Amino acid sequence: MTSTDKNRVVIFDTTLRDGEQSPGATMTHDQKLEIAELLDEMGVDIIEAGFPIASPGDFEAVSEISRRAKSAVICGLARAQYGDIDRAWEAIKHAKRPRIHTFIGTSPFHRDMHSLDRDGMAARIHDTVSHARNLCDNVQWSPMDATRTEHDYLRRVVEIAIKAGATTINIPDTVGYTAPAESADLIRMLISEVPGAQDVIFATHCHNDLGMATANSLAAVDGGARQIECTINGLGERAGNTALEEVVMAMKVRKDIMPYITGIDTTKIMAASRLVAQVSGFAVQFNKAIVGKNAFLHESGIHQDGVLKNAETFEIMRPEDIGLNTSNIVMGKHSGRAALRAKLKELGFDLADNQLNDVFVRFKDLADRKKEVYDDDLVALMRDQPGDETLERIRVKFLRVICGTEAPQSADLTLEVDGKDHQTTATGDGPVDAVFNAVKALFPHDARLQLYQVHAVTEGTDAQATVSVRMEEDGRIATGQSSDTDTVVASAKAYVNALNRLLVRRTKSDPDADVKTVSYKDAG
Ligand code: KIV
Ligand code: ZN
Repeated sequence: MTSTDKNRVVIFDTTLRDGEQSPGATMTHDQKLEIAELLDEMGVDIIEAGFPIASPGDFEAVSEISRRAKSAVICGLARAQYGDIDRAWEAIKHAKRPRIHTFIGTSPFHRDMHSLDRDGMAARIHDTVSHARNLCDNVQWSPMDATRTEHDYLRRVVEIAIKAGATTINIPDTVGYTAPAESADLIRMLISEVPGAQDVIFATHCHNDLGMATANSLAAVDGGARQIECTINGLGERAGNTALEEVVMAMKVRKDIMPYITGIDTTKIMAASRLVAQVSGFAVQFNKAIVGKNAFLHESGIHQDGVLKNAETFEIMRPEDIGLNTSNIVMGKHSGRAALRAKLKELGFDLADNQLNDVFVRFKDLADRKKEVYDDDLVALMRDQPGDETLERIRVKFLRVICGTEAPQSADLTLEVDGKDHQTTATGDGPVDAVFNAVKALFPHDARLQLYQVHAVTEGTDAQATVSVRMEEDGRIATGQSSDTDTVVASAKAYVNALNRLLVRRTKSDPDADVKTVSYKDAG
């Protein structure tokens, strides 16, 4: 092994599996393909494309991503059960470079839950890893909740998995419990004490419950791990997973103390972040490291002055390193198609001619209503693309609201439902409530509104507002988003968008096998 190989850290992206399991982050088949294509293009080494046994939809997405991937390894997740492993193999076997990832919870909590004693679980690990290895020569094994598993038992089961043929051993901090020094020590201990450890790659998989996922992952690399499992924007259950952009940029910026290299083209980070935020409906917090809206903004006079004289005074990385364009050339109603295409390309959206035509019409409409159209406006416009007609049963056709100091506020709304127009007028406690009541009157449903959030895209009274809505129905959660210079219109569209996503989930061919029902947390 050369010294460069020794320092190469493999990036394993699980946005489409662990990220998608985050409540409300449901993605459609086409959206998953689009994300996988971008991950492959940006140099992600391994894409965990899904959990094939979880639902027919997951199976189809993993199969299609496997067929299309150009260079990334495509990985399918499987519990420690033959049926899961066979199904994962069926989905990934078309990939140029397939990998089966099988796992079982090894901590006392999980052994109790599965009513398995130490020996019983060890036998199960031996059998299932051997089964996976008979199908595929690239097998990853994970002792879920490794950071709360007794060290002597962890050493034992890791050795069994290596002997049974695992080629990567992943050490998950499933509940985000560990801390940096402990994370490094654990990997170091396993590599030095488990027979055969030198022949496999150790991976780290951290959750962010205590806000330490990035630090824990980098510490694990210091301890000898050479694969980091992560997601774009840190998307994931609860407080999320390690954020890809954070670990990759930390290793790039602090090469002096972390002399590791990855294969990631960091100039694609912003495009990936925008795409995942759009598709998942999970907006990126403004002060999020690397990809937050404010990450490169300098507000105070002293900082602005310093950055203008020499960017390095206050900037440890350049915006263009992550594909963020700071020129912010303002577009307006006189800008033409070519300028729009060039601008969108800079922002990471490479459009075919027919797509450009549609966006151009909406751009002109926005430019008529708004003097200056900024980069963030264009990103919001792209997010607000009309979706696949088969998935959009409901559309907002017309809306007029009456609001002001005198109650009741009312909404006159026309919705197109399954191709037919329906009209009603409803009142409510404020214009947004009136609109939501009108939607309910036209399309009765029991879904509960869990979250309603409004963000101004740029400054000024003519700024667009991005509205996010999260809804829940029978344990299924869906998030919708929309942007408009009219906040109430954006609210109506975001609500309808969330409702459409819920309907897709409701009509999945096998609702019992939904990913939220067959969760990896139930691994047995
Ligand atoms: O957090 C976790 O333990 C997981 C495993 C399935 C690797 O996501
Ligand atoms: Zn996880």
